[in-house]
Amino acid sequence: MHFLITAGPTREPIDPVRYISNHSSGKMGYALAEAALAAGHEVTLISGPVSLTPPEKATFLSVETAQEMFDAVASQIAKAEVAIFCAAVADYRVAEQADEKIKKSSDTLTLDLVKNPDILGSARGAFGFNGFLVGFAAETTDVEKHAIGKLEKKGCDLLVANDVSRSDIGFDHQENEVIAFHRDGRKTPLPRALKSEIGRELIRLIEASI
Ligand code: CTP
Repeated sequence: MHFLITAGPTREPIDPVRYISNHSSGKMGYALAEAALAAGHEVTLISGPVSLTPPEKATFLSVETAQEMFDAVASQIAKAEVAIFCAAVADYRVAEQADEKIKKSSDTLTLDLVKNPDILGSARGAFGFNGFLVGFAAETTDVEKHAIGKLEKKGCDLLVANDVSRSDIGFDHQENEVIAFHRDGRKTPLPRALKSEIGRELIRLIEASI
């Protein structure tokens, strides 16, 4: 099968030297790409800026902003049977990017932000994707409630949730601990393990669910 995987953060420029981003390292998405390739699948990996080397056998697209990631997914998703949206997409970008470096001329500075396109939320509608759709949810409270809400709202078959309020797993760590929520109401907890192992288990779970 062909897997499309998004990974890493996005980076939203404020001016030529500054940006808005988040702590995503890309490790979970890259681990999923490695695991899918090792299981004999084809992979298109669309990644924001990270310091990881993409798997050699993957088709690799490097992007920076949420809009670029949106455009890359739009151009690639038709060939995928499975789409996994693991990227930590910045929800907002600055309304108007400054052409010149912003000088610290006043004591306070207000930035107007506008919403970025929801890439996963566009899969079923704008992209017309009919394959197996996997979303991720990084939550700090009410993990199960928010995860099930996102699964339904974004038309996912599987929603993988992790609790990012914990300092020992998740964002920028080697290990993760997640709960996979299925569309039929089942849930599969994957206990704490290296992201490489969580990646292999998730690929097995996806294969078993199709
Ligand atoms: N996602 C996306 N495009 C966005 C925002 C999120 O594709 N602009 C995807 C992420 O890759 C993830 C899922 O949507 O698979 C959930 O992301 P998350 O940030 O947890 O959810 P949001 O929909 O942004 O909701 P909120 O920030 O309000 O919790």
